[in-house]
Amino acid sequence: MSLNGKTAIVTGASRGIGRQIALQLAEAGAKVVVNYASNPEKANEVVRAIEQSGGEAVAVRADVSAVSEVEALFAATLARFGRVDILINNAGVMECASIGDVTEAMFDRQFAVNVKGTYFACQQAMRHMEEGGTIINFSTSVSGAMLPTYSVYAATKGATEQLTRQLAKEFGPKDIVINCIAPGQVSTELFLNGKSEELIDSFRRMNAFGRLGEPEDIANAIDLLVSDKARWITGQTIRVNGGFN
Ligand SMILES: NC(=O)c1ccc[n+]([C@@H]2O[C@H](COP(=O)([O-])OP(=O)(O)OC[C@H]3O[C@@H](n4cnc5c(N)ncnc54)[C@H](OP(=O)(O)O)[C@@H]3O)[C@@H](O)[C@H]2O)c1
Repeated sequence: MSLNGKTAIVTGASRGIGRQIALQLAEAGAKVVVNYASNPEKANEVVRAIEQSGGEAVAVRADVSAVSEVEALFAATLARFGRVDILINNAGVMECASIGDVTEAMFDRQFAVNVKGTYFACQQAMRHMEEGGTIINFSTSVSGAMLPTYSVYAATKGATEQLTRQLAKEFGPKDIVINCIAPGQVSTELFLNGKSEELIDSFRRMNAFGRLGEPEDIANAIDLLVSDKARWITGQTIRVNGGFN
């Protein structure tokens, strides 16, 4: 696969899954915008790693929950690279709690980053993305397991799956594909934070391979979806979870 001449925006690329996606898209030849919210050192480290491998990248701070910052993210991309071909709406937050303990702030934060951020980045893509482009949004496989404490997070991902379906026919006339990827448990801060080793082990046993997913497992699936061979796939949610469900 060659992404030479293409530009990719990866939201939330300073850490975790987004970081690995940024590295692999750059390895395939794309110029990459490494978006982050609060971690310039880590974002710059990703940029340096890309540059050391001969690629081109820039770190751009933007809190995707603010529409003005999403607009600024696209403006910065166009100013630096002149085009947008790939948008990976990876930035996400998860705050697990039983319904009795969920606060309004927890609810609003998760919907603001996971749904509003994704939606308005898609709006920017509608305005600025090149024909033949690719958008990938992020859901989760955990929705299928109906686990307690995940209600708000899973609801944000359900909304993301549905907005992906709805938008497919608006993007189709521009020859832009839009899909959703639904990872299972991946070994990142988002998943590991606050969990006991015992709980993590129980998640390991829930998939077919008895291990957690690694960021590379998800980035590899992104590589498939951005390839020219995947142009007939749009409006879909693809579970990448080692057979978790
Ligand atoms: N890990 C899993 O098991 C798992 C499973 C299913 C789905 N997912 C989904 O996969 C995606 C990536 O998750 P991850 O595990 O890699 O998470 P992570 O390790 O917590 O990394 C989150 C990334 O998102 C960025 N971010 C957070 N809030 C942001 C905002 N308001 N604006 C811009 N960037 C923001 C962070 O930037 P800073 O470094 O600047 O804070 C960081 O780069 C998320 O959408 C998540 O819901 C993860």
